[in-house]
Amino acid sequence: MLLNVLNKPLARSILTVLRSKDTDQISFRKSMVRLGRLLGYEIADNLTHTEIEIETPLSKARGVVIKDLDNIVIVNVLRAATPLVEGLLKAFPAARQGVVVAKRQEGTFKRDTGRIDVDIYYSKIPDIKPEDAVIIADPMLATGSTVLKVLELVRSKGSPKTTVIVSVIASKDGVNRVLSLDHPPNIYTVEIDDELNDMGYIVPGLGDAGDRAFG
Ligand code: URA
Repeated sequence: MLLNVLNKPLARSILTVLRSKDTDQISFRKSMVRLGRLLGYEIADNLTHTEIEIETPLSKARGVVIKDLDNIVIVNVLRAATPLVEGLLKAFPAARQGVVVAKRQEGTFKRDTGRIDVDIYYSKIPDIKPEDAVIIADPMLATGSTVLKVLELVRSKGSPKTTVIVSVIASKDGVNRVLSLDHPPNIYTVEIDDELNDMGYIVPGLGDAGDRAFG
């Protein structure tokens, strides 16, 4: 499935903490890490697995192996994604990692196109192999402008088997824009909000994820 919304009480309750304006920086960051872990497990559940037979100390047993766990690349869209990536790494401890420093140019959001200008200041992404699953982590999928730029950078490094964009809140417009690509990535998020405000922020959203996590 291309769009995966984690409509589950535990994930939603953690997102509720993130959304509240009364949540302090420490609780915010910890909650983002927890959601990263849950989203990671959800992604892992949808990776290809094969049935195997193994031997326990007593007998033979059927089991499952997920080979793709060794072929994960996580791209951290700095700075806001850092606590989300910390959680994802609990689900994918063997992941290779890339970083992209991206900044939206505030005040450039255009409602008619749904786009905002984004500057990429630095990127370092490992070479992508055909068997890789690439997870682009950006906690807020708002206009989609940032993740689409990051997606281009990833695809310039190779053609992965799977590409996933993981966020905690997405906007309807951002989701539609990403899914309208010729080769759309999968999207994992916890909830989808209806609106973007005039600055291109998600409403009700949770505010600026970077500011709230880093103080
Ligand atoms: N980035 C954020 O941190 N929050 C939004 O609502 C949109 C982009």
